Amino acid sequence: MSVILEAKNISKIYDEGKIKTAVLSGLDLTVQKGERLAIVGSSGSGKSTLLHLLGGLDTPTTGEVWVNGVCINHLNETQRGKLRNESLGFIYQFHHLLPEFSATENVAMPLLMRHDVSIRQAKERANALLDKVGLSHRTHHRPSELSGGERQRVAIARALVSEPKLVLADEPTGNLDDDNAKAVFDLLSELQNNLGMALIMVTHDRQLASRADRVLEMKSGAWV
Ligand SMILES: Nc1ncnc2c1ncn2[C@@H]1O[C@H](COP(=O)(O)OP(=O)(O)OP(=O)(O)O)[C@@H](O)[C@H]1O
Ligand SMILES: [Mg+2]
Repeated sequence: MSVILEAKNISKIYDEGKIKTAVLSGLDLTVQKGERLAIVGSSGSGKSTLLHLLGGLDTPTTGEVWVNGVCINHLNETQRGKLRNESLGFIYQFHHLLPEFSATENVAMPLLMRHDVSIRQAKERANALLDKVGLSHRTHHRPSELSGGERQRVAIARALVSEPKLVLADEPTGNLDDDNAKAVFDLLSELQNNLGMALIMVTHDRQLASRADRVLEMKSGAWV
C-alpha cells in the first residue's frame, strides 16, 4: 500500500492576542490509500481542528501535512483551492451548504468550479449521488427547506461528487438516525471499494467507528 496522507509533528495554537489556546501537540498521522480511519475522542479534544489542518482549511503552528506526495503547507491559496476541489472531499461538522442554491446545485458545485465537466453532466452526477443518499425527491429544495439530516446527506453527496482520493468527514452521521447513518456508511464503503478512496472520519458513534479499518483516540490534542 502507499500513503495518501502524512502529517508530521502537527501542533496548533490558536492565538488571539492575550489568549493563546494550545489545541494540538506534536501529532503524527499516516493514512494509506484506500484506508478507513476513525478518530474518536471527547468534545473539545481537537478532532475538528486536526481535520481542518489535514484538509488545508487552516495552517498548523508547527509541522507539515502531505497529501498524495504534496506538502500542502507551501501551496498558495489558488493551489490549495484546486487540491481541495479535485483531490479532497470535506464533510464539515456544520455542513456549510450554499443557502441560495438547490440540493442538486450544491452537490454539483465542486464539478461546476472545475470547468471540465458540462453543467448537464455535473447535475446528472449530483442527482445520482442524491439518489444514493435517499434524496431523489428533494433535489430542487434549498437548504432551508431541508431537515438537518437531509442537509447533512446533501453535504455528504457534495463531498463525494468529484470522486476524491481522500475524504475528511467530521461527524458525517451526527444528525442521522441509525438507518440513514448505515446508508451513508455503506455509500462511503462502496466508493471506497470502487475508487480506492481513503476516509478519515471523526465520529462519536462507536458502532460506526468499529467498522473502520483502524480507530485512533484523541485526548487533549494528542493520541491516546
Ligand atoms: N478559533 C479558535 N480559537 C480559539 N480556540 C479554539 C478555536 N477553535 C477551536 N478552539 C478550541 O480548541 C479546542 C478543540 O476544538 P475542536 O473543535 O477541534 O474540538 P472537537 O474535538 O472537534 O470537539 P467536538 O467533539 O465538540 O466537535 C476546543 O477547546 C475549542 O474551544
Ligand atoms: Mg468537532
